Amino acid sequence: MEKKNLDWENMGFDYMQTDKRYVSNYKDGKWDDGALIDDANIVMNECAGVLQYAQTVFEGLKAYTTESGKIVTFRPDLNASRMVDSARRLEMPVFPEERFVDAVAEVVKANAAYVPPYGSGATLYIRPYMFGINPVIGVKPADEYQFRIFTTPVGPYFKGGAKPITICVSDFDRAAPHGTGHIKAGLNYAMSLHAIVTAHANGFDENMYLDSATRTKVEETGGANFIFVTKDNKVVTPHSSTILPSITRRSIMYVAEHYLGLKVEERDVYFDEVKDFAECGLCGTAAVISPVGKVVNHGEEICFPSGMEKMGPITQKLYDTLTGIQMGHIEAPEGWIKVIE
Ligand code: PLP
Ligand code: COI
Repeated sequence: MEKKNLDWENMGFDYMQTDKRYVSNYKDGKWDDGALIDDANIVMNECAGVLQYAQTVFEGLKAYTTESGKIVTFRPDLNASRMVDSARRLEMPVFPEERFVDAVAEVVKANAAYVPPYGSGATLYIRPYMFGINPVIGVKPADEYQFRIFTTPVGPYFKGGAKPITICVSDFDRAAPHGTGHIKAGLNYAMSLHAIVTAHANGFDENMYLDSATRTKVEETGGANFIFVTKDNKVVTPHSSTILPSITRRSIMYVAEHYLGLKVEERDVYFDEVKDFAECGLCGTAAVISPVGKVVNHGEEICFPSGMEKMGPITQKLYDTLTGIQMGHIEAPEGWIKVIE
């Protein structure tokens, strides 16, 4: 299969239309067989549930070309099961997990020409999503849904790639106790848009959200979880029922403990202790591991000893091991890598 002639080395995190997308429709209480289609546009009623009451959930994962030239995905089963949790919370039907994993493979295979080559720094981002499509005017769940997956080749989420970023403590809240912060619902991102536009206007790359109940604990950013490294090399990540259970973060904690022999802790992280950490990073499918050099809280700066030039040494080891597993030159734990072709 011949690759598209794209500038793989200089891609941003932008949408590019690829050849095929997967679609399955839910009607009369069941999903149809699903198929790959060419049309990237969706026609729906003006009163569709997704348009009126934001009944939509999504996932994000990537396909990689390994050193040996195979196309693989990373732990797609965990995206499938998280989408089940998201759908249940928004009163949507569940798309069967096995079908999710198979559909991801099918759509990646159909767009293999867009999977960036090994070593280019780019990957194929895969976006599964589901939404209520029939007319809904009273506030209630839709009866009909569409599940789709599109793919788009992407480069680093933050411009500058592995250069440390500066983030600010947001005055806005991302998630309420007993709300929807732990699922991947479009509504969480809609309400974060004003906060991110404000952060960018003030010269910051991202927001650090605190817990909305007490505003004393670190939660996450708009699109990634936090990892911190203590001065004695322990890897610490916030525990919270209102953050998204990042697959990348769960994988990093495993890698830290089982590949690098580091101590790990998932616990409450108070904002007051952030100044004592040696390193900080954002982790997620899009972010991979993006180092944070500085956190600003209303003018007060916390500068991590790792600085603004490069990742801290432990963050770098975590990054190298995680991406080594994803790119196939470090052996993966059982079941983490799904070979597409
Ligand atoms: N937190 C939020 C709010 C996200 O949108 C994402 C992205 O998916 C993550 C964390 C990272 O999760 P994952 O590692 O599963 O991509
Ligand atoms: C992902 O990492 O897959 C996400 O969904 C985050 C989003 C901000 C792009």
